[in-house]
Amino acid sequence: MEIVVDDRAPQRAAEVIALRVLRNPRLILGLATGRTMQPVYAELITLFIRGEVSFRDVRTVNLDEYVGLGVEHAGSFAREMSERFFRHVDIDPANTHLPNGAAADADTEADRFEHLISRLGGIDLQLLGIGRSGHIGFNEPPSALHSRTRVVTLTPTTRRQNAAAFGGDPARVPERAITMGVATIMDSRELLVVATGAAKADVVAAAVEGPVTTMVSASAVQGHPRCLLIVDEAAARGLNRRRS
Ligand code: F6R
Repeated sequence: MEIVVDDRAPQRAAEVIALRVLRNPRLILGLATGRTMQPVYAELITLFIRGEVSFRDVRTVNLDEYVGLGVEHAGSFAREMSERFFRHVDIDPANTHLPNGAAADADTEADRFEHLISRLGGIDLQLLGIGRSGHIGFNEPPSALHSRTRVVTLTPTTRRQNAAAFGGDPARVPERAITMGVATIMDSRELLVVATGAAKADVVAAAVEGPVTTMVSASAVQGHPRCLLIVDEAAARGLNRRRS
């Protein structure tokens, strides 16, 4: 794992994504939602407006979506992606893929999404945040390291973490989600993990220097042959072996 500590972590992450797109305009790009990613997408939009990158032929797959929520729901990740990224750049909406939270059968939808990723040829670069429960995607503890895209139950920690999009009320955050599995994520040819802020320091330390365990699915990335972790100073505070 390569570790970069930089207070411009989101901008650095956006630059890595833009470089990969420049090298391969038909990149299969795995995306994440959440607060950490907002400045990443803002920077990608800036790079696009400056003419430094185009997403015209990029295909995207997102990590996860809440069960029961369609794009019309303000709290859905589909809506978040559209508002914070897709509609500001030249990506073809037909090339953007998220699990359909509103599907009649969530298990079937999870299988469809896993097959879609295979059909696209796998993910070239997967962007990841780390949740306070130690998750990547919505792989809550305990999540098998061999898990595939499936329906999961969210922990109270995660429902609290994500309550802002639901009027600040954790009880209104859906209880279940469809998430790419740990193994699905690990099959990506490259991982780009981003974490910012002091609230992530413990979980970053556990993910990077702790044991690889189903209780911290983010720890799985230690075993990935091509993983770049970009953190700011605050999120790096718990790391003993810092390389920058
Ligand atoms: C989002 C996702 C999650 C988040 C994580 C961090 O699609 O899969 O793993 O990346 O919960 O969220 P924030 O950035 O809001 O702290």
